[in-house]
Amino acid sequence: MASPSKTTMEDLKTLILAVDSKVNKFNEKLDTIENKFSNLVQEVKQDVTQVKICFYFVSNSIELSTHKQGMSDKAEVRRVSEADYDVVMSIRSGVYGGYDYLPSMFKSLITQSHNKGYASIINGKFVAFCMVSKVDGGKTVVTRAGRVNKQYEGRGLYNALKLYLQKHVFSDGTISSHTVVYDDTNQSMMDKTSKGEFTLLMKRKVIGYRIDFDKMSVIAKRTHTTTNTRTLNEVDLITVFKSRSVCSTLFPQERIICNFVPYRLTERNIPLIFSEVSLIVGTGEPELSFITCGVYYRSENGHTFIIEVYGNNNFIREHLILHFQHALQYYPKEIDILIMCKENAADKIDSEIKECQLSNMDVGFKTVFLVEKNIK
Ligand SMILES: CC(C)(COP(=O)(O)OP(=O)(O)OC[C@H]1O[C@@H](n2cnc3c(N)ncnc32)[C@H](O)[C@@H]1OP(=O)(O)O)[C@@H](O)C(=O)NCCC(=O)NCCS
Repeated sequence: MASPSKTTMEDLKTLILAVDSKVNKFNEKLDTIENKFSNLVQEVKQDVTQVKICFYFVSNSIELSTHKQGMSDKAEVRRVSEADYDVVMSIRSGVYGGYDYLPSMFKSLITQSHNKGYASIINGKFVAFCMVSKVDGGKTVVTRAGRVNKQYEGRGLYNALKLYLQKHVFSDGTISSHTVVYDDTNQSMMDKTSKGEFTLLMKRKVIGYRIDFDKMSVIAKRTHTTTNTRTLNEVDLITVFKSRSVCSTLFPQERIICNFVPYRLTERNIPLIFSEVSLIVGTGEPELSFITCGVYYRSENGHTFIIEVYGNNNFIREHLILHFQHALQYYPKEIDILIMCKENAADKIDSEIKECQLSNMDVGFKTVFLVEKNIK
């Protein structure tokens, strides 16, 4: 057999190299397509799971169970108890800009009969949570402390949980309205409110201050100038709620917010408003013209004190004395004070507080909204 010429061998080599490079390119493309395809399959699987979760939550009549790669996908909504503390907390951190009250208040809230917590669980993992508080003698439900695990965010899980609550918790025939308190980082709720899905009841400005123990102790040792600034008890608040003139001046929206929960001005709410971490201070004689509700808790950001302000703000510094005396019992090295007040009172309050040499701190949100939706 005649041996191939040199030129033919060179041509063949070039051809083989060209084919080899094409095969490599083809393989690379196949890899990319395979990756894209498996991503797509993954996304479709997640969407299918999601649809099933929603279906499960809404119908709650069949237990959903799908088999994929030998695994079983199981979704359920469950009422949580004190024992679920760790798993509920594992859902998400950094809620409300780090000022989340749930880690320190979960156990005391969940054991009160007007509060119930619900969680969505997928394959045994707690992925969403919402606390439902029944107030106003059972006529209003407040959904609060809601959260969804970041991995599952934006896929309708919170909506599914809300649908479950509407079907199984809100429909007992006694509830006539649903209220939510949210802040200006929640764009979606702001959009819903401006579209009229919820009625805006209150818009409160948030001003933040950070103060250390020593400065707080100095302020707390001051004596107040008027004798009619005092700590209010449950009986005082009954008197306040009974007085039409006080209520219309201090609470024109007929609501008082304490620890992020809005209450109508009825006597039945009073035991819910008071707690061991709250302090209510009032000024005025014979009728009160200024009330502040303070609540202390530990958040991820540290010691936190929320003060809700109602009425004539000339007495804010006197109120700070009593609130600081209360807060000092928790021995904070440093404490973040979040003042919540009417929009048009914010500047005046801020300049009064700055007289005490307190400086501002960025809270992460500037406004808090209270909205309502009729249920019946
Ligand atoms: C707010 C949060 C729970 C929403 O989770 P999500 O996975 O995006 O929930 P979904 O995909 O079901 O979509 C959110 C839906 O719930 C609504 N929603 C958001 N916050 C809500 C609230 N506080 N109360 C009632 N509904 C709320 C949205 O408007 C949206 O409705 P839409 O689908 O009709 O537009 C989640 O982003 C989260 O955990 N954020 C951090 C915690 C937080 O800010 N919680 C607010 C508690 S007041």
